[in-house]
Amino acid sequence: MTVSTNKPPRLLLIGANGQVGWELCRTLAPLGQVVTASVEGGTDHWVDLADAESVSRLIQEAKPDAVINAAAYTAVDKAETETLIAQRINADAPGMLGALLGERGIPIVHYSTDFVFAGDTGQPYREDDAPGPLNVYGATKLEGERRLLDSGANAIVFRTAWIYGARGNNFLLTMRRMFADKDELRIVNDQIGSPTWSRMLAEVTALVLHRVLIGELDIERVKGVYHLTGAGQTSWYDFACSILGASGERCRLLPIPSSEYPAPAKRPAFSVLDNSKTLETFGVRLPDWQHSLRQCLEELR
Ligand SMILES: NC(=O)c1ccc[n+]([C@@H]2O[C@H](COP(=O)([O-])OP(=O)(O)OC[C@H]3O[C@@H](n4cnc5c(N)ncnc54)[C@H](OP(=O)(O)O)[C@@H]3O)[C@@H](O)[C@H]2O)c1
Repeated sequence: MTVSTNKPPRLLLIGANGQVGWELCRTLAPLGQVVTASVEGGTDHWVDLADAESVSRLIQEAKPDAVINAAAYTAVDKAETETLIAQRINADAPGMLGALLGERGIPIVHYSTDFVFAGDTGQPYREDDAPGPLNVYGATKLEGERRLLDSGANAIVFRTAWIYGARGNNFLLTMRRMFADKDELRIVNDQIGSPTWSRMLAEVTALVLHRVLIGELDIERVKGVYHLTGAGQTSWYDFACSILGASGERCRLLPIPSSEYPAPAKRPAFSVLDNSKTLETFGVRLPDWQHSLRQCLEELR
């Protein structure tokens, strides 16, 4: 696919109000006409990914040249009981999108998660390592990846992790709120992962999609799963210490094991992703998580 200079490509962004979706609205703008869709409204189109008919109608009405799906059921603990709705949004909808777009030859970028892995190897995961989700969210996201790719669609799936940013429901903003309210916080120190700035994820998405749209990357050749997180690794406790250090607030942070912070959904102990396939294929070197955190905090200030 090569972009014409007088007719900008129509980029359908599903989940435009989410933390990644919101950043994508900006980073995709130079690539073409961004057409937004969400379930909450305030966007160009309304869509409920749990409703097959509305997904089909969206594709017919929006007439996209490419789709970016940043929508998902992301309530990890609630998914343990709201299994059916998580299944519809995270597993059925990507399969349906794949079928609708595959037959029209329209490329799609989709996001998945480090929670597809069990986290028991102690080694950064590569894309072809065996998955083993520990919770419903991870299982439905894994099924979504597979159904999208099995549909034959020209899909790029970015598996990412521990997303934070200036907007949305995330660890960084929760910590900043709590530092102001509490004298002491107990933070889990035995889950290791890679914090990923939503802006960085959105920028890399735009960069890769741009190369696909101008024909520099052959989507037939590069379609598949890629790991895309901040480089390096940390625990939630050390992540919190870094946020606190930059905040100027006073709060005592205590490291605790996960067993002292029970949650409905089990989390992987070590879910660091190896980003080297993303570097080899797209030439994108992911910045260290601390570098991105500094930039994000600077902006919040
Ligand atoms: N957050 C993380 O730490 C993390 C980690 C790994 C992977 N991921 C993946 O990264 C992607 C982006 O996540 P995020 O953190 O940006 O999520 P988010 O902030 O929770 O946003 C999710 C978006 O999905 C939309 N949505 C929910 N149910 C929907 C439905 N039935 N129909 C249509 N849209 C619906 C929501 O729309 P409204 O705003 O309109 O309600 C929301 O905008 C997801 O695929 C997620 O699984 C996230």
